[in-house]
Amino acid sequence: MTGSFARTVSLRDGTAVPQVGLGVFQVPADEAQAVVEQALEVGYRHIDTAAAYVNERGVGAAVRASGLPRDELFITSKLRNGDQGYERTLRAYDETCERLGLDALDLYLIHWPNPSAGLWRDSWRALQRIRAEGRVTAVGVSNFLVEHLDELAVFADQMPAINQIELHPTFQQADVAAACRAYGIAVEAYSPLGQGADLVHPSVTSVADELGVTPAQVVLRWHLDKGHVVIPKSVSRHRMLANASLESVALTQEHVDAINALGTGRRIGGDPRTFSISQIR
Ligand SMILES: NC(=O)c1ccc[n+]([C@@H]2O[C@H](COP(=O)([O-])OP(=O)(O)OC[C@H]3O[C@@H](n4cnc5c(N)ncnc54)[C@H](OP(=O)(O)O)[C@@H]3O)[C@@H](O)[C@H]2O)c1
Repeated sequence: MTGSFARTVSLRDGTAVPQVGLGVFQVPADEAQAVVEQALEVGYRHIDTAAAYVNERGVGAAVRASGLPRDELFITSKLRNGDQGYERTLRAYDETCERLGLDALDLYLIHWPNPSAGLWRDSWRALQRIRAEGRVTAVGVSNFLVEHLDELAVFADQMPAINQIELHPTFQQADVAAACRAYGIAVEAYSPLGQGADLVHPSVTSVADELGVTPAQVVLRWHLDKGHVVIPKSVSRHRMLANASLESVALTQEHVDAINALGTGRRIGGDPRTFSISQIR
């Protein structure tokens, strides 16, 4: 099986994002460097971190230790809820770059709309400014619902390049994904494996058995065929490799229909309408 590392998705500004990246949520700070070094060694070139994950320093150390040219890497981080607001966002971006040891990110996202704080619009204006100044390649949002995207379409000078949302077989957010497509926003699926829980669903395991591949490969190929950017998290070398070995996984329409039918409407993560913790520890 060949790797899927060469696949890219084009963002609205023409930036190409590697379609398969590694997520590092819940990777402890003191393990992040080793985990990301391993991922870069097996072929990952796209890493998804966040200020709230408290492991940006380890990610940056791995990037430097790899010796890979900066322009071969795609590094994403995210603005914490507690850093929302125009001036605070500008500062938070600089601090994230400092922790990562990078001059600029490839993608910077507003982590949550955090509507009760009423500051995401100011943060979006700050992201637009950072991009206009050429200090980040692309800017986007995460956990934005249709109502937030519709509002952006009214006031924003530019729409987000990406919306990173919880999306996996048992929680598909068809409404948000459709709105993203309509606005030309790429869909990035977080918790793409349902944090592992979707991998034991009989509809997934029966396709995996039929094709002689792993349940994770079935689910990740389902995402790729829908055009989602995916950022499965794994700390295991063999899972990292398997999760990016998707080229020979050929799903039939019947397989796709079976997985499409698994939606339950139940989230694993927070509800963007109410999620408001500061994310600052
Ligand atoms: N924007 C947001 O609000 C937000 C929220 C959540 C996540 N995210 C991003 O999305 C990334 C991925 O989401 P996630 O970490 O929540 O969940 P996930 O990637 O769906 O699942 C990760 C879990 O699945 C296991 N796993 C990975 N590959 C596997 C395989 N081939 N077979 C069996 N189990 C496997 C991992 O264990 P091992 O590590 O032991 O392999 C881990 O327990 C995060 O790391 C983060 O970057 C963003």
